[in-house]
Amino acid sequence: MKERKNDRYYVKAKREHYRSRAAYKLLQLQEKFGILFAGMRCVDLGAAPGGWLQVEQEIAGPGGRVLGIDLATIRPVEGVTLLKGDVTSPATAAKLLDAAGGKVDVLLSDMSPDISGNYSLDHARSVDLVRTALALARLLLKEGGSMAVKLFDGELTHELLEDMKRSFGSVRVSKPEASRKQSSEIYIVAGDFFSR
Ligand SMILES: C[S@@+](CC[C@H](N)C(=O)[O-])C[C@H]1O[C@@H](n2cnc3c(N)ncnc32)[C@H](O)[C@@H]1O
Repeated sequence: MKERKNDRYYVKAKREHYRSRAAYKLLQLQEKFGILFAGMRCVDLGAAPGGWLQVEQEIAGPGGRVLGIDLATIRPVEGVTLLKGDVTSPATAAKLLDAAGGKVDVLLSDMSPDISGNYSLDHARSVDLVRTALALARLLLKEGGSMAVKLFDGELTHELLEDMKRSFGSVRVSKPEASRKQSSEIYIVAGDFFSR
């Protein structure tokens, strides 16, 4: 708790009314890559408690459409459509596709697996979540669309990046300043989606 209270982004999130310090990771990715835009249609996987959703909705504005899903219940965010469920279950994926109501411009995932403390296992679970997000991106993204996704870095990263390059014209890796140095998390930002 003490460590949290000394954390600059935790304090900043409280002051600026973001639900999570994670909001600053997305804001920093946005500053670097500019993947979010006014009027966008956007899907956020693993969105609780909703810091990223707040950022997405602020940028999308009234002409945009933001949809968030999580295993946990997300408190309402004005203007945002919320779903509850496990993204890895085919039934939830079908609901998500339905709720999206058509192709979207951006797909985001900040999903984290339950941490076991075993580095290789946590990495492999994180890769599985990214692969789930990638499969959904391939169904949901418009041509030219973008994706940003969290990954716990490890030995399978290279193969995963190569797979993403089969669907995106650009695939870049970034570690935003707000991401804790001691965490193995990185973000993969992919743009120029193409379906074949
Ligand atoms: C780091 S938090 C996301 C924080 C969020 N970006 C924010 O700014 O508030 C990771 C979330 O991923 C969710 N998650 C993990 N696996 C999931 C799954 N299979 N389906 C849906 N959500 C999942 C967890 O429940 C957790 O809320």
